[in-house]
Amino acid sequence: MNLRGVVLAGGTGSRLRPLTKVTNKHLLPVGQKPMIYYPIEKLTGVGIEEILIVTGVEHMGDVVGLLGSGREFRCRFTYKVQDEAGGIAQALGLAENFASGQPVAVILGDNIFQAPLKQHAEQFLAQGAGARLLLKQVSDPHRFGVAEIRDGKVLGIEEKPARPKSDYAIIGVYFYDAAVFDIIRTLKPSARGELEITDVNNAYIRTGQLGCDILEGWWTDAGTFESLVRANDLIVREPPK
Ligand code: G1P
Repeated sequence: MNLRGVVLAGGTGSRLRPLTKVTNKHLLPVGQKPMIYYPIEKLTGVGIEEILIVTGVEHMGDVVGLLGSGREFRCRFTYKVQDEAGGIAQALGLAENFASGQPVAVILGDNIFQAPLKQHAEQFLAQGAGARLLLKQVSDPHRFGVAEIRDGKVLGIEEKPARPKSDYAIIGVYFYDAAVFDIIRTLKPSARGELEITDVNNAYIRTGQLGCDILEGWWTDAGTFESLVRANDLIVREPPK
Protein backbone atom coordinates (compact mmCIF):
# COMPACT_ATOMS: atom_id res chain seq x y z
CA MET A 1 0.00 0.00 0.00
CA ASN A 2 1.26 3.48 -0.92
CA LEU A 3 -0.10 5.13 2.19
CA ARG A 4 2.51 5.52 4.94
CA GLY A 5 1.76 5.82 8.65
CA VAL A 6 2.98 8.39 11.17
CA VAL A 7 2.45 8.17 14.94
CA LEU A 8 3.18 11.42 16.77
CA ALA A 9 4.26 10.56 20.29
CA GLY A 10 6.18 13.64 21.42
CA GLY A 11 5.22 16.32 23.93
CA THR A 12 6.07 16.58 27.59
CA GLY A 13 2.93 14.96 29.01
CA SER A 14 2.77 17.85 31.48
CA ARG A 15 -0.94 17.34 32.19
CA LEU A 16 -0.18 13.82 33.46
CA ARG A 17 2.64 14.60 35.90
CA PRO A 18 3.89 12.86 38.01
CA LEU A 19 2.90 9.83 35.87
CA THR A 20 5.07 11.26 33.08
CA LYS A 21 7.99 12.43 35.21
CA VAL A 22 10.25 9.53 34.15
CA THR A 23 8.42 8.17 31.10
CA ASN A 24 6.63 9.20 27.94
CA LYS A 25 2.84 9.58 28.09
CA HIS A 26 2.44 7.15 25.19
CA LEU A 27 4.09 4.34 27.16
CA LEU A 28 1.56 4.51 30.01
CA PRO A 29 -0.80 1.53 30.30
CA VAL A 30 -4.25 1.59 28.72
CA GLY A 31 -6.03 -1.71 29.37
CA GLN A 32 -3.49 -4.49 28.81
CA LYS A 33 -1.14 -2.58 26.53
CA PRO A 34 1.00 0.54 26.40
CA MET A 35 -1.02 3.45 24.95
CA ILE A 36 1.05 3.67 21.73
CA TYR A 37 0.05 0.13 20.68
CA TYR A 38 -3.48 1.30 19.85
CA PRO A 39 -2.63 3.91 17.18
CA ILE A 40 -0.05 1.53 15.69
CA GLU A 41 -2.64 -1.25 15.44
CA LYS A 42 -5.09 1.17 13.77
CA LEU A 43 -2.50 1.84 11.05
CA THR A 44 -1.54 -1.80 10.52
CA GLY A 45 -5.29 -2.58 10.38
CA VAL A 46 -5.45 -0.40 7.25
CA GLY A 47 -2.69 -2.49 5.66
CA ILE A 48 0.03 0.12 6.21
CA GLU A 49 3.47 -1.46 6.47
CA GLU A 50 5.80 1.53 6.88
CA ILE A 51 5.29 3.51 10.09
CA LEU A 52 7.28 6.48 11.42
CA ILE A 53 7.30 7.07 15.17
CA VAL A 54 8.17 10.63 16.23
CA THR A 55 9.02 11.23 19.88
CA GLY A 56 11.16 13.44 22.09
CA VAL A 57 14.82 12.71 22.81
CA GLU A 58 14.28 11.95 26.54
CA HIS A 59 12.38 8.70 26.09
CA MET A 60 13.34 7.59 22.57
CA GLY A 61 15.38 4.72 24.04
CA ASP A 62 12.38 3.32 25.89
CA VAL A 63 10.13 3.75 22.85
CA VAL A 64 12.57 1.84 20.62
CA GLY A 65 13.07 -0.77 23.35
CA LEU A 66 9.34 -1.35 23.52
CA LEU A 67 8.46 -1.34 19.82
CA GLY A 68 11.62 -2.70 18.17
CA SER A 69 11.82 -3.15 14.41
CA GLY A 70 8.07 -3.62 13.95
CA ARG A 71 8.27 -7.37 13.31
CA GLU A 72 5.89 -8.04 16.19
CA PHE A 73 3.35 -5.68 14.57
CA ARG A 74 3.95 -6.95 10.99
CA CYS A 75 5.25 -3.56 9.89
CA ARG A 76 8.56 -1.65 9.71
CA PHE A 77 9.25 1.22 12.10
CA THR A 78 11.36 4.29 11.39
CA TYR A 79 12.13 6.59 14.33
CA LYS A 80 12.66 10.36 14.39
CA VAL A 81 13.50 12.63 17.29
CA GLN A 82 11.56 15.86 17.84
CA ASP A 83 14.12 18.02 19.64
CA GLU A 84 11.63 20.26 21.42
CA ALA A 85 7.86 20.19 21.94
CA GLY A 86 7.09 22.57 19.04
CA GLY A 87 3.66 21.31 18.12
CA ILE A 88 1.96 18.60 16.09
CA ALA A 89 2.64 20.28 12.75
CA GLN A 90 6.34 20.64 13.58
CA ALA A 91 6.51 16.94 14.48
CA LEU A 92 4.77 16.01 11.23
CA GLY A 93 7.27 18.13 9.30
CA LEU A 94 9.95 15.64 10.39
CA ALA A 95 8.17 12.99 8.30
CA GLU A 96 8.97 14.53 4.91
CA ASN A 97 11.89 12.26 3.97
CA PHE A 98 10.09 9.22 5.33
CA ALA A 99 6.99 9.99 3.26
CA SER A 100 9.11 10.45 0.10
CA GLY A 101 6.21 11.85 -1.90
CA GLN A 102 3.60 9.33 -0.71
CA PRO A 103 0.42 10.32 1.18
CA VAL A 104 0.42 9.83 4.94
CA ALA A 105 -2.04 8.70 7.62
CA VAL A 106 -1.16 10.51 10.84
CA ILE A 107 -2.36 9.55 14.33
CA LEU A 108 -1.68 11.31 17.59
CA GLY A 109 -0.30 8.70 19.96
CA ASP A 110 -2.84 9.45 22.68
CA ASN A 111 -5.95 9.03 20.52
CA ILE A 112 -7.79 5.79 21.28
CA PHE A 113 -10.93 4.72 19.43
CA GLN A 114 -13.09 1.75 18.62
CA ALA A 115 -13.76 1.73 14.86
CA PRO A 116 -11.31 0.50 12.21
CA LEU A 117 -9.62 3.15 10.03
CA LYS A 118 -9.71 1.21 6.79
CA GLN A 119 -12.85 2.71 5.27
CA HIS A 120 -11.63 6.25 6.04
CA ALA A 121 -8.24 5.55 4.48
CA GLU A 122 -10.00 4.23 1.37
CA GLN A 123 -12.18 7.34 1.17
CA PHE A 124 -9.08 9.53 1.42
CA LEU A 125 -7.29 7.58 -1.32
CA ALA A 126 -10.42 7.78 -3.52
CA GLN A 127 -10.41 11.56 -3.00
CA GLY A 128 -7.14 11.63 -5.02
CA ALA A 129 -5.49 14.67 -3.41
CA GLY A 130 -5.74 17.02 -0.46
CA ALA A 131 -6.50 16.11 3.14
CA ARG A 132 -9.18 14.23 5.05
CA LEU A 133 -10.12 14.58 8.72
CA LEU A 134 -12.23 12.63 11.15
CA LEU A 135 -14.79 14.35 13.36
CA LYS A 136 -16.62 13.28 16.47
CA GLN A 137 -19.42 14.95 18.44
CA VAL A 138 -18.24 15.64 22.00
CA SER A 139 -19.64 17.25 25.13
CA ASP A 140 -16.50 19.39 25.75
CA PRO A 141 -15.54 20.81 22.32
CA HIS A 142 -13.57 23.73 23.83
CA ARG A 143 -10.77 21.18 24.61
CA PHE A 144 -10.17 20.41 20.92
CA GLY A 145 -9.96 21.74 17.40
CA VAL A 146 -13.60 22.45 16.50
CA ALA A 147 -15.12 22.36 13.00
CA GLU A 148 -17.69 24.79 11.68
CA ILE A 149 -19.80 22.63 9.38
CA ARG A 150 -22.43 23.40 6.75
CA ASP A 151 -24.02 20.82 4.42
CA GLY A 152 -21.47 18.18 5.42
CA LYS A 153 -18.52 20.47 4.57
CA VAL A 154 -15.99 21.92 6.99
CA LEU A 155 -15.95 25.71 6.54
CA GLY A 156 -13.26 26.41 9.11
CA ILE A 157 -11.55 25.04 12.21
CA GLU A 158 -10.82 26.85 15.46
CA GLU A 159 -8.25 25.52 17.94
CA LYS A 160 -9.69 25.25 21.46
CA PRO A 161 -12.23 28.05 21.05
CA ALA A 162 -13.83 29.61 24.14
CA ARG A 163 -17.14 29.68 22.25
CA PRO A 164 -17.19 26.64 19.92
CA LYS A 165 -19.24 26.99 16.70
CA SER A 166 -20.29 23.30 16.89
CA ASP A 167 -19.75 20.25 19.05
CA TYR A 168 -17.75 18.47 16.32
CA ALA A 169 -14.18 17.95 17.54
CA ILE A 170 -11.35 17.26 15.09
CA ILE A 171 -9.91 14.02 16.38
CA GLY A 172 -6.20 13.27 16.13
CA VAL A 173 -6.34 11.26 12.90
CA TYR A 174 -5.42 13.03 9.67
CA PHE A 175 -4.77 11.97 6.08
CA TYR A 176 -2.57 14.21 3.92
CA ASP A 177 -1.08 14.28 0.45
CA ALA A 178 2.58 15.24 0.05
CA ALA A 179 1.69 18.96 -0.24
CA VAL A 180 1.36 19.00 3.56
CA PHE A 181 5.11 19.51 3.93
CA ASP A 182 5.05 22.69 1.80
CA ILE A 183 2.16 23.97 3.94
CA ILE A 184 4.05 23.25 7.18
CA ARG A 185 6.99 25.34 5.91
CA THR A 186 4.69 28.39 5.66
CA LEU A 187 3.39 28.16 9.28
CA LYS A 188 4.17 30.64 12.05
CA PRO A 189 4.02 29.65 15.75
CA SER A 190 0.67 30.21 17.47
CA ALA A 191 0.09 32.09 20.74
CA ARG A 192 1.15 28.93 22.61
CA GLY A 193 4.41 28.90 20.63
CA GLU A 194 3.58 25.81 18.55
CA LEU A 195 3.09 25.03 14.86
CA GLU A 196 -0.60 24.09 14.88
CA ILE A 197 -2.12 21.23 12.90
CA THR A 198 -5.30 23.33 12.81
CA ASP A 199 -3.44 25.90 10.66
CA VAL A 200 -2.44 23.11 8.26
CA ASN A 201 -6.06 21.95 7.99
CA ASN A 202 -7.36 25.49 7.44
CA ALA A 203 -4.84 25.85 4.57
CA TYR A 204 -6.44 22.80 2.88
CA ILE A 205 -9.90 24.30 3.47
CA ARG A 206 -8.82 27.49 1.68
CA THR A 207 -7.88 25.50 -1.43
CA GLY A 208 -11.09 23.44 -1.27
CA GLN A 209 -9.16 20.21 -0.70
CA LEU A 210 -10.34 19.09 2.73
CA GLY A 211 -12.69 16.12 3.06
CA CYS A 212 -14.10 14.79 6.30
CA ASP A 213 -15.83 11.77 7.83
CA ILE A 214 -17.58 11.24 11.12
CA LEU A 215 -15.98 8.48 13.19
CA GLU A 216 -18.32 5.73 14.40
CA GLY A 217 -18.02 4.14 17.85
CA TRP A 218 -16.28 5.62 20.84
CA TRP A 219 -13.23 7.89 20.79
CA THR A 220 -11.15 9.56 23.45
CA ASP A 221 -7.79 11.19 23.89
CA ALA A 222 -5.79 10.09 26.94
CA GLY A 223 -3.69 13.13 27.75
CA THR A 224 -5.36 14.14 31.03
CA PHE A 225 -6.08 12.11 34.16
CA GLU A 226 -9.79 12.12 33.41
CA SER A 227 -9.42 11.02 29.78
CA LEU A 228 -6.77 8.41 30.68
CA VAL A 229 -9.22 6.82 33.11
CA ARG A 230 -11.95 7.00 30.43
CA ALA A 231 -9.65 5.34 27.87
CA ASN A 232 -8.91 2.48 30.28
CA ASP A 233 -12.58 2.02 31.02
CA LEU A 234 -13.67 2.01 27.35
CA ILE A 235 -10.88 -0.34 26.25
CA VAL A 236 -11.95 -2.91 28.84
CA ARG A 237 -15.72 -2.54 28.35
CA GLU A 238 -15.86 -2.19 24.55
CA PRO A 239 -12.55 -3.31 22.98
CA PRO A 240 -11.56 -1.77 19.61
CA LYS A 241 -12.62 -3.59 16.46
C1 G1P B 1 -4.56 18.34 19.45
C2 G1P B 1 -5.01 19.27 18.31
C3 G1P B 1 -6.54 19.44 18.35
C4 G1P B 1 -7.21 18.07 18.31
C5 G1P B 1 -6.67 17.17 19.45
C6 G1P B 1 -7.19 15.76 19.32
O1 G1P B 1 -4.74 18.97 20.67
O2 G1P B 1 -4.35 20.52 18.43
O3 G1P B 1 -6.95 20.21 17.23
O4 G1P B 1 -8.61 18.25 18.46
O5 G1P B 1 -5.24 17.11 19.42
O6 G1P B 1 -6.72 14.92 20.34
P1 G1P B 1 -3.82 18.72 21.98
O7 G1P B 1 -4.70 17.92 22.91
O8 G1P B 1 -2.62 17.97 21.53
O9 G1P B 1 -3.50 20.07 22.51
